[in-house]
Amino acid sequence: MDLEVRPLAAADLDRADQVLRDAFRTYLGADLMADTDLLRSRFHARHTTVLAAYTSGWPVGTIVATQWGDVGLLGPLSVSPPMWGRGVGTRLTEAGVALLDSWGTTHQGLFTFADSTRHHGLYQRFGFWPRFLTAVMSAAVTGSEQRMGRRLTTADPAARERLVEECHAVTTAVRAGLDVRGEIDSVLEQGLGDVVVVGGTRPDGFAVLHHGPGSEAGSGIAYVKFAAARPGPGAAATFTALLDACRGYAAQVGAHRLTLGVSTARHQAYRRLVAAGLRTDVAAVTMHRPNDPGYDREDLYVLDDWR
Ligand SMILES: CC(C)(COP(=O)(O)OP(=O)(O)OC[C@H]1O[C@@H](n2cnc3c(N)ncnc32)[C@H](O)[C@@H]1OP(=O)(O)O)[C@@H](O)C(=O)NCCC(=O)NCCS
Repeated sequence: MDLEVRPLAAADLDRADQVLRDAFRTYLGADLMADTDLLRSRFHARHTTVLAAYTSGWPVGTIVATQWGDVGLLGPLSVSPPMWGRGVGTRLTEAGVALLDSWGTTHQGLFTFADSTRHHGLYQRFGFWPRFLTAVMSAAVTGSEQRMGRRLTTADPAARERLVEECHAVTTAVRAGLDVRGEIDSVLEQGLGDVVVVGGTRPDGFAVLHHGPGSEAGSGIAYVKFAAARPGPGAAATFTALLDACRGYAAQVGAHRLTLGVSTARHQAYRRLVAAGLRTDVAAVTMHRPNDPGYDREDLYVLDDWR
């Protein structure tokens, strides 16, 4: 089989999106993606690269590589079902890892099915090791939640720029090299949702939220793509305020559900979410390369799910 792995061409985006949907629908036996998007917005973002496997000029699979500073993420990975078992997924993973390495990312990770030993085996061959569960959790939004926090879409350009740098200072305090400004830019530039900040003049926490069809959230959903509270004595209170602000945002945009992901290794954050009434819809596992905790620490109030 002639197989070439290279960056996805814009002209092949539709086809690649179809392959991704077919692959997950076939694996899961149901279409859980509906009108969410996991490929297009990432294709257009600056901190992500979509690599595609081509046979005879036709895209038969993709893998997305994401750079969050010195943290590199892989996924989603998908291969057209008729092509499964012929080494395409392996080639894509190999190319994805090489890309993360070339970016100089020192903490690499992915999010996969907790109960699939085949998936674990595939990624272990590349030095990713299974660690803690990630709980993808959700709560109903009634519409009466209080609007809290500041939204970056409503800030003037100078204030917005300053706030983005303040958000960056928060992630730097979580992990020196962690940089999610690409996610912030992607949301603001592509109109995928908003960024909510909490705290005084100097924000103590922020959440990058997607909302609606064509984003990673989907219709009727507000989804926390990433959120962090500044570490330290006030972190728990900031986290509570952040969660309220996310609920408020969800209500404001008319979402009926708020979803988010958290590593269960971030125990304090996880147990607060449970206490706040969020329910776990999916428990996935993260795999790390190398096998170290990264920012999955008990005391860190960070939300993400590496999907
Ligand atoms: C997982 C997936 C990308 C593998 O692609 P592929 O081209 O079949 O992979 P390869 O032929 O290179 O096989 C490599 C390994 O992947 C695993 N694998 C293969 N088919 C698989 C399947 N249907 N489900 C799970 N794992 C599978 C096996 O461990 C295999 O190793 P083996 O040959 O020693 O058994 C593909 O099955 C797919 O698109 N599945 C649906 C979407 C998905 O699960 N994506 C990954 C989410 S983290």
